[in-house]
This record gives sequence, structure tokens and C-alpha cells, in this order.
Amino acid sequence: MRAVDLIIKKRDKLALTNDELEFLVQGYTQGTIPDYQMAAFAMAVTLNGMTHQETTDLTMAMAHSGEILDLSQAAPIVVDKHSTGGVGDKTTLTVAPLVAACGLPVGKMSGRGLGFSGGTIDKLESIPGIKLDLTTEEFIRQLKEIGIVLTGQSADLAPADGKLYALRDVTGTVESIPLIASSIMSKKIAAGAHAIVLDVKVGKGAFMPTLEKARELAEEMVAIGELSGRRVIAVLSPMDQPLGNAVGNALELREAVEMLHGVGPEDYRYHCLHLAAYMLILGQKAPDIETGLAMAERARQDGSGLQKFRELVIAQHGDVSTIDNLDELPKAKFIELVLAEKSGWVNSVNAREVGETSVQLGAGREKKGDPIDPAVGIMVYAKIGDQVQAGQTVFEIHANDYEKLIQAKERLKKAIEITQDRVERPPYFHGVIGL
Ligand code: URA
Repeated sequence: MRAVDLIIKKRDKLALTNDELEFLVQGYTQGTIPDYQMAAFAMAVTLNGMTHQETTDLTMAMAHSGEILDLSQAAPIVVDKHSTGGVGDKTTLTVAPLVAACGLPVGKMSGRGLGFSGGTIDKLESIPGIKLDLTTEEFIRQLKEIGIVLTGQSADLAPADGKLYALRDVTGTVESIPLIASSIMSKKIAAGAHAIVLDVKVGKGAFMPTLEKARELAEEMVAIGELSGRRVIAVLSPMDQPLGNAVGNALELREAVEMLHGVGPEDYRYHCLHLAAYMLILGQKAPDIETGLAMAERARQDGSGLQKFRELVIAQHGDVSTIDNLDELPKAKFIELVLAEKSGWVNSVNAREVGETSVQLGAGREKKGDPIDPAVGIMVYAKIGDQVQAGQTVFEIHANDYEKLIQAKERLKKAIEITQDRVERPPYFHGVIGL
């Protein structure tokens, strides 16, 4: 078999077989197929698409390019969750402990921030000392012992995706539904979860700008789940404005832990409780959404979710005093308010602008490997549908660099739109697929 013939086949809009896709993935992982051929293949897929069968075969070939974890030794059903990425999305930090507190083990490998969207691992790193590079043995042992693990993505899992993702990032081939679906699902399958709740974000602050595209991606991933023997459901959630109030690593960690104390923004509370409920349904702990919601809410109210989070921090060598006293988390030198310039109704709060401004303050990376500043970020105090008065605080900027603070202030003034006409609040969810 020759890579060039397979590129030509995809260029001519023909479907590739399982053997052909395995040949490409194995060759690329081992280095016998060079970047330029894989880039040509990725572009042909981006332009011509793939059938469900091809996407599933590509996913399984990438999942099998490295180790596949078997979590059955840790628990009969392990449920994972995955967000396609958004601004202010600290959901895992609240949901994983709530679900684990309900007796369903959660073992999750998370990523770092990507572009304007944040990553769970960067947020957790705000806790001094926390270990986020667990070995497979440590992962399984902790999952068995305390029923919750949050760690970084192991390089041994789906290495083909790691390589291909970096190539796609620089060849204009990120925004392809079969490539995104196979990238996400190969990592989830390799990480060993028996069931997966996907949080597919749609809107200005998401990879998928329209509901139609988000639905297509969600359906593709649910179909891959079915064909690979995993139970998968996908929630479609809006990402035109940031989720909750906090954007930035320590600020988000604080909001996530406060939610475990029982307080926090309503959109974030609703989102967390529903995702937890769907995980409990897939994990066969709750027969229906009402029961799942009640279980998750109980774990929030009675402090058992918070206790699970503390257990996780202690097991992973983090300084738990920062969780017990959130004022000990890293703090920025400067705090500056952005005020509403007029009275009216909030019509938009551009999630992408807020995310990019937060990255510019130092909360994310401009390029791979850059250090990040856990203390900086933005608190968003006005949400779509809120009525605001001129002079009311709409954003609070946390910065460590005065120049960057001034730039952020100018950007944020333009990131919010206030109109005279009443604006309805957006829905918290656009739908669920696969339930
Ligand atoms: N997240 C991933 O893991 N892969 C993609 O291709 C896009 C988002």
C-alpha cells in the first residue's frame, strides 16, 4: 500500500477501507509516513468529508496507536465527560466531585488551554503542589481508592492524535467534523471510560459556530460511541457568552469550588447539575433525569461533593488549605472595573473576545509551552438578558501587568453590547443527543 494512492482516493471523494486508514495512522505514528503526506490527507478529509464508517475506523485506528486503558479493574462502570472547549468552562471541577460523591467513579484525563478556550489542567495547577502527571498505575490505584482522578493526558494514549492535532493546527484542518470527532473520541476510548457525556459547545466562543454544525459533530461522536461499544450522549450547550462569571485559572477554580459550597451563578449551577445527572444516568446510578438532578443537588448541598474534591487534592499532593480558604489562591496585583456605558439590556457578551482578552492578560498561552499566570483573568458580571444601569460593573479585570490591564479594559468595553429593547435570556441547553 502507498500513502499517495490513499490521498488520491480521498481527493477523488472515495471512501477508504479500515485497512487503508490503519495503514495511514500506523505509518504516521511510526514516522514512515511524513507530515506532508498526512497534511495532504487531512486537507482531503477537510474538503471531502468521511462516511460514518470511515470516521469510526479512523477513530479506532488512532485509539489503538498507543495504550488502551482497561478501567474495568477499577470499577464496573466508569463515566467520563468531555467538553469541546469554551470560555469560563470549569464544569469538570464541579461535576466530577459531585458525581464521584454519588458513588459513581470518575477517572478523567484533561487537557490544557487551547487558543482562547481554557483547560482543566491549567485551572487545577492554581493549587500549589498538585500532581497532574499521574502514571497509569497511579491513575487506576486512585480511582479504586477514592473514586476520583483528574490528571493530564498521558502521551502513551492515542499518540497518533497528538501528532495529527499539532499538524492540523498549522495546516488549516482543525475545523473538520470527522477529524474533530475522531480526535476527541480516540482519546476518550483510549482512556478507558465505559460511557461518556459529551458537552458540545456552540456559538461565538466555540469551535462550532452554528447549531447545525454542532449537532452534526455531536451525532458523529454518538455514532462512533455506538459502533465502538461505548454508551455516549451529547449535550448541545450555548457558548456565545462565557459560562458562569469567572474566566481565568484561579478565578475559575474558585467559582467551581464555591459551587461545591452551594453558591454561584445560575447558568453554571444548571449546567453542572444537568451534566452530573446525565453522567449518573449513563453510570446506572439514576434511572432518570429528575433523580440524577436530585442526587447531584444533594451532593452539593450536604458537602459530600466538596469533600470528594478535597480527597482528590490531598491524594494528588495539592495544598488543601487553598481549597479550605479560597483567599489563599493566587491573586493578581491589580483589580480594575469596567462599567456599563449606558443603561439597557445586555444583548451580547462576546465569549471569544473575553477568552482572548484573558489569554492576553496571561491566563492562556500565545504559543505552545508559554508559562501561564494563574492569578489573572476576568469576572463577567453582566450576562445576556440582564438589565443594567449606566455605571454598573460589567467586568472586573484581574491583572499583574499594568499595560495589559489598560489594553484589556479597551477590549472589554467593546465585548459587551447593551440595547434599549428588552432581551430574552438564552436557553441553557439546545438539546441532548443519544439519550
Ligand atoms: N478537541 C480535540 O481534542 N480535538 C479536536 O480536534 C478539537 C477539539
